Amino acid sequence: MDCRGVNRVLCVVVTVFVCSSVVEALENGLARTPPMGWLSWERFRCNTDCKNDPDNCISDRLFRTMTDLVVSEGYAAVGYEYINIDDCWLEKERSYSGQLVPDKLRFPYGLHDLSDYVHAKGLKFGIYEDYGNYTCAGYPGILGYLKTDAETFATWNVDYVKLDGCYSHPREMDRGYPEFGFHLNQTGRPMVYSCSWPVYQIYSGMSPNYSSIVEHCNLWRNFDDIQDSWASLESIIDYYGNNQDIIVPNAGPGHWNDPDMLIIGNFGLSYEQSKTQMALWAILAAPLLMSVDLRSIRPEYKAILQNKKIIAVDQDPLGYQGRRIYKHNGIEIWARPITPVYQNFFSYAVAFVNRRTDGTPSDVAVTLKELGLFNPGGYNVEDLYEDVNYGVLTPLTKIKVKVNPSGVVILRADVQPGRPFAADQQTRYDPYQVFQYRPAGI
Ligand SMILES: *[C@@H]1O[C@H](CO)[C@@H](O)[C@H](O)[C@H]1NC(C)=O
Ligand SMILES: *[C@@H]1O[C@H](CO)[C@@H](O)[C@H](O)[C@H]1NC(C)=O
Ligand SMILES: *[C@@H]1O[C@H](CO)[C@@H](O)[C@H](O)[C@H]1NC(C)=O
Repeated sequence: MDCRGVNRVLCVVVTVFVCSSVVEALENGLARTPPMGWLSWERFRCNTDCKNDPDNCISDRLFRTMTDLVVSEGYAAVGYEYINIDDCWLEKERSYSGQLVPDKLRFPYGLHDLSDYVHAKGLKFGIYEDYGNYTCAGYPGILGYLKTDAETFATWNVDYVKLDGCYSHPREMDRGYPEFGFHLNQTGRPMVYSCSWPVYQIYSGMSPNYSSIVEHCNLWRNFDDIQDSWASLESIIDYYGNNQDIIVPNAGPGHWNDPDMLIIGNFGLSYEQSKTQMALWAILAAPLLMSVDLRSIRPEYKAILQNKKIIAVDQDPLGYQGRRIYKHNGIEIWARPITPVYQNFFSYAVAFVNRRTDGTPSDVAVTLKELGLFNPGGYNVEDLYEDVNYGVLTPLTKIKVKVNPSGVVILRADVQPGRPFAADQQTRYDPYQVFQYRPAGI
């Protein structure tokens, strides 16, 4: 029977087990929570035509304008911090002495000057390069110049380096990405290090060595570039759900999986779909890098990007990435353990996603216990988009939500102190323990 329009009652059988993971990670003191900021690529691409399109070309002016708006429109106040240049900022040739040179017409004052501007506004400055002979768009790559380029970035007071992987051999990345990280470190300037190492290896059929990646990068791309469509966003959601056993354990303070930019406010996503991206990026502990024209974004999309409650989930200090815990008939439930923690019980952010296309909201009803929330003292539950607080619910309370087609409902369940356990039930909380779910029926 097709259950279109029928209330679906979920029975999620959840077994919780604990796995200890002690990872050796890059310790440059940076990205203790997922980086937040603005990145040019998805929206502005490699538009170098400043003659005919001066407002939208990759140029000094574009980055100064976005810097101003990140501050004046309230994005900085909610945590967006990095202003990141992507590809197409370079001259096609290095200088006579082998240095990278920003395009002289489009960046007439140089990048030190632009970086000073960004810093003067209280923000941080990021740049793009590529571990290959060329960047993806055909500008000079860093191969053969690793030390020189790391030093150049430090001279320009760069705070964040995204290193892409076009025009390079994926097998050489196991050596090359750590080598460039070494040179970044040797400059003495702390710079967030964003790697495209795993995604290129996966493309070439290799299994990335995530323990090495975690040790050398602050964040890394696992999957395709995001494009301006719901289909692209869905493919990313599926990738992170289907491969979560390999991906999730690698996330933590200082080291994050990067499902790519937020495309909220552009052309391809509806309002509901935009809410879905923001909610799931928070569950995934993803970097929040907006790629949108902040001059013309509509207020309802700006409100999604500035939703403080969802940003707080994304930035939760425990740094555990969430998981897809249920998937059936187009309904998915994703959950992420967050603070506060009481005894051995976590709080949770829980996102209900409707991947169905029948044009009516789907009802989902589930008890907290079915989601793996067993704390006898209960949980204070609130909706993070709608101004609804359900109050303190016990594990046996059934919560019912209506989820719009291609939309989301995201709740936060804060653990409440309750009766102390009997001595034999007490487990001391270990910050390295990650709850994992094995629901039936996935
Ligand atoms: C980069 O260029 C050098 C010199 O031309 C060449 O030997 C090397 O194979 C190239 N590397 C890649 C990954 O294409
Ligand atoms: C360089 O690496 C050392 C050892 O991991 C670390 O303590 C230091 O903070 C790093 N410095 C920079 C600038 O990244
Ligand atoms: C993965 O990297 C780690 C740390 O760099 C290393 O010790 C290990 O041998 C590597 N594993 C494989 C399969 O290459």
